[in-house]
Amino acid sequence: MCGIVAYVGDRTAYPILIKGLQRLEYRGYDSAGIALLNGQTNVYKCKGKVKDLQALSKDKEISGTVGMGHTRWATHGEPSDHNAHPHRSMNGKFFVVHNGIIENYTHLKKELSNRGYKFQSETDTEVLANLIENIYLEKSVSAELAVRLALTKVVGAYGLVISCEDEPGMLIAARKGSPLVVGVGEHEYFLASDATPIVEYTDQVMYLNDEEVAVITRDGLDLKNLENDSKTPDFKKITLSIDHIDKGDYEHFMLKEIHEQPMSIRDTFRGRVAMDESKIFLGGVLDVMPQLIKAKRIIIVACGTSWHAGLVGEYLFEKYGRIPVEVEYASEFRYRDPIIQEDDLVIAISQSGETADTLAAIRKVRETGATILGICNVAGSSIARETDAGVYTHAGIEIGVASTKAFTSQITVLTMMALLLGSKRQVLPASEYKELIHELIQVPSKIEEILKQESEIEKIAAVYKDVTNALYMGRGLLFPVALEGALKLKEISYIHAEGYPAAEMKHGPIALIDENMPVFALAANDQSYEKMVSNIQEVKARKGKVIAIATKGDKGIRKMADHVIEIPECHEAVSPLLAVVPLQILSYHIAVMRGCNVDQPRNLAKSVTVE
Ligand code: G6P
Repeated sequence: MCGIVAYVGDRTAYPILIKGLQRLEYRGYDSAGIALLNGQTNVYKCKGKVKDLQALSKDKEISGTVGMGHTRWATHGEPSDHNAHPHRSMNGKFFVVHNGIIENYTHLKKELSNRGYKFQSETDTEVLANLIENIYLEKSVSAELAVRLALTKVVGAYGLVISCEDEPGMLIAARKGSPLVVGVGEHEYFLASDATPIVEYTDQVMYLNDEEVAVITRDGLDLKNLENDSKTPDFKKITLSIDHIDKGDYEHFMLKEIHEQPMSIRDTFRGRVAMDESKIFLGGVLDVMPQLIKAKRIIIVACGTSWHAGLVGEYLFEKYGRIPVEVEYASEFRYRDPIIQEDDLVIAISQSGETADTLAAIRKVRETGATILGICNVAGSSIARETDAGVYTHAGIEIGVASTKAFTSQITVLTMMALLLGSKRQVLPASEYKELIHELIQVPSKIEEILKQESEIEKIAAVYKDVTNALYMGRGLLFPVALEGALKLKEISYIHAEGYPAAEMKHGPIALIDENMPVFALAANDQSYEKMVSNIQEVKARKGKVIAIATKGDKGIRKMADHVIEIPECHEAVSPLLAVVPLQILSYHIAVMRGCNVDQPRNLAKSVTVE
């Protein structure tokens, strides 16, 4: 949420910042801005996207080898030119870009106002810029000390880059809660919210830890904590390459990522399944295997699409691992007074590994002694680092704001975990274990078959592109897929959509059905098939339009439904992995036909680092 990029070195900063902001735009796109330090600081910022910023800065003074940039997802203050970052302190000594929320900003603002400070924006960030400046001027301390002292007064989350007019070759970075990556090259340093703006220039990066402050010039980096203890920077090689962040021949990242799913799922199980398909190895959880085997309960915490994956996990862990599972919205869990026992196993699922609520939820669990596992996509992310053990999804970088391949990779990991646990707890017979592993291995090629139907699915999208409401229904393992299908449609096409367990339709939603209401029915060949057939009949009896996702060759459903999208025959355990794909494709095409910005839907951001 909000993207930060900064540079100090010998190159011209402007193109690095602009390109970096374009890469980070998925984190927020309400406004964009840059500050270029070149004797004096030139700031260009405006409401809108990075392309608007480019237009604004055209023909302006853009030289300078030190600078910072920001793309915003608004929290305090509407998207506008004056609320855009970078923010300047009142006397022009400091410039700040910020990702996160300063929770006590009202109190700090009042104190600063009493000291004569005036504010140009409604943001919490400008308050911080002025707080730093006030300490700097009143105490006559170095810029770095002023920043550290200011941060001790701050409650909340921040990823920050700060410049001081009196020390133009220097940038100060600080982190608490919101991620910041530092990249190092020959006499140059890069800072960014994630590694995507950096990989083009260097593969040596380090993640700042919470409450660390880095002072960076072209010649060096000085790392310390807020208490002034020195730390040793630990740069590591990253594997992310420039090809991973390119759209290739696809019109949108989302479409590319939908099509990548056969590969991303293969990457998820690669090296984790024995050649003879008899066993699963999950190296990341080996150390905690005794705790996993004796766990009395699993609690899954997650947000958004990852929460839907968690619901699929609930079915899988209970059925194949015979462990009771609770799936919690991280945002609710963290503020309840949940009862967590030492022999509970808590699993945090997060694509980014940075979602503020999920991170806070596991920090809460930390006090209880329960074992915490992470299922994350971004290596080295906060959640990955703060869990006892975990399994990376290896889906590759996901840039489209609407999650697709990360979801199917999360489910792949959860399936492997459930099967492994079932086997280790001796509740899953070896023959069934092997059969299910085989089913999982078949999934990528079955998704390839579904992807071949894209033009047919596009035709169905054309029929429903103008609807204002839609319902999704499924049962069992396909109920969470109904929720996910509805979320995909809402997120990117702004059509109101709801997902329901099919049997719940008659307790309310069925009242909505008339000849204008499309109902997406997930009717794979599973144990609830017959019941789904009845639910489809109930919709048809009320003149609703049914778009069924059904197993290949199912003639019965074809007679009832208005449209059918076929998925290959599969074991019900892996049916969510197949059934969600047509729903992703449908939502994508509906959104494109409605002229929506698929990769950057309004009001959303990919990585939600504020609560
Ligand atoms: C945002 C994204 C969703 C994502 C959710 C949780 O809302 O737009 O796609 O599912 O955050 O993110 P996480 O990174 O924790 O999976």
